[in-house]
Amino acid sequence: MPDTSQYLAGRTLILVSNREPYEHFHEEGAAGDDVKVRRPPGGLVSALDPTMRCTHGTWVAWGSGSADRETADETGRLQVPPESPAYTLRRVWLDDADVDGYYLGFANSALWPLCHMLLQHYDMRQEYWDRYVAVNERFADAAAEEARRAPKAPVVWVQDYHFALVPSLLRQRLAGERRPTFIHQFWHIPFPPPDILRLLPTAAYTGVMRGLLGNDLIEFHTDRYAQNFLDCVDEFVPESRVHRDGKRVRLGDRDVSLGVFPISIDVEQYESLARGPDGAQKAAELREKYVADGGSLGVSVDRVDYTKGIPERLRALDQLWTEAPELRRKLTFVVVATPSRSELRSYKTLEEEVVAGVKAINDKFGEDGWTPIVLINENVDAAGLASIYRAGDVCLVSSLQDGMNLVAKEYIACNVDEQGVLVLSRFTGAAAEIDDAILINPFNVDGVVAGLRRAVTMPPEERRARMQRMRRQLHRATIFDWLEAILARVDELASSATELRPAAAE
Ligand code: ADP
Ligand code: G6P
Repeated sequence: MPDTSQYLAGRTLILVSNREPYEHFHEEGAAGDDVKVRRPPGGLVSALDPTMRCTHGTWVAWGSGSADRETADETGRLQVPPESPAYTLRRVWLDDADVDGYYLGFANSALWPLCHMLLQHYDMRQEYWDRYVAVNERFADAAAEEARRAPKAPVVWVQDYHFALVPSLLRQRLAGERRPTFIHQFWHIPFPPPDILRLLPTAAYTGVMRGLLGNDLIEFHTDRYAQNFLDCVDEFVPESRVHRDGKRVRLGDRDVSLGVFPISIDVEQYESLARGPDGAQKAAELREKYVADGGSLGVSVDRVDYTKGIPERLRALDQLWTEAPELRRKLTFVVVATPSRSELRSYKTLEEEVVAGVKAINDKFGEDGWTPIVLINENVDAAGLASIYRAGDVCLVSSLQDGMNLVAKEYIACNVDEQGVLVLSRFTGAAAEIDDAILINPFNVDGVVAGLRRAVTMPPEERRARMQRMRRQLHRATIFDWLEAILARVDELASSATELRPAAAE
């Protein structure tokens, strides 16, 4: 863990995200009042919990767990992680109408599909936008309160597409305060080009752009997303001036900077879980159970989300076992596919489609003593995931669009035997960074099949050489390097800013 004190000396970090890092709930069917805690699946929480553990401060998030209220004090606060408290979690409570309109509605039925350019899933209603504005106001209030009570100069770090309006709302709330607050935001998903963003109602796309321009700094995973953002500023905020080379926008008397910071993982944590006696033993058990002599184990890990290309992956496996009967019994796949956002019909339908698709393949190709696909559709803890990654000879990431995809990096970190092959969609942020994966286009089934065949037949020396290079590259770009780079940029910009100026024309 790096020493972040040099960057945060004299500052208090306040992080704002929709998803909370620890959810409390009562186990279904369990007797008594025992409250369980789990870390919800998803890249944002996986990446930011380790960073908050070393920067401390306060994380403001929606209290979404069914038993969250039982764990908070009267202000909604709690010290986490439960086993060794390192930072404060402050929950914001939302009612059902908020969740429907803001989270399931505008965030996940409008912005999420548009940003991933999967227009068939786009669904927009006026009510969604109204709730999104209202909930962003609530989070801006909470962030402003935290900023005012911060012991040192506050740095508010807003996360993701749920809160495009928070930066400018917060700036308005804090205008005129004696102590300047630095406001920045990490956008965890792709940013779409203007032709896609303008499918939103005018008030919504201009609102989103102007809201984001309330930041002092906006961070993206890739240069392409940053360029798309600048194209949208050019089109939708005509009074601004875009400086492409310096990745900067001038709006009124303020500058908004952009930065490209590809997110990563706690490499050592995954590596030591995979190497540890438990990880090693569970990986060996998985191989013992599923890998025939001279055979291979394929793995994939995702939330069930239409961006992840899970049906496309199943189609490719079907075609592979059809065209290459010699791979039956020789290649088994463990597919971890955890339900996500199940309240939305498109997600629920996809869950059913995945279960039915796996069953159809198993019925078609399964033989006595061999099940082609083992489906795990529940939450798996980090140790369990590490052993699955370690056991896998091949990891297939088939996202149709994906901001980064941390699973690809987790697989590399856990591949301590250096024999694994990563088959990676070229439409992930990770593909812009990782040179030694086999890149595929998930829309082209033949190409995915060819990629998988290449992976399972790759000579051991080539596997090792590629995996060693990927591991070296990953070790040079961990979540802590990412954090340090962002904090250094914040430090540089915050030190040069003299005062907090109000947002330009809303
Ligand atoms: P996204 O953020 O869109 O879900 P990523 O691949 O970037 O995609 O991140 C997914 C994160 O969620 C990873 O850290 C992964 O380990 C975690 N995850 C995925 N599936 C599960 C699961 N079944 N149980 C626990 N964690 C999971
Ligand atoms: C992606 C988003 C995150 C989100 C995660 C899980 O990683 O960028 O903001 O937390 O998916 O989705 P959920 O809706 O369960 O929070």
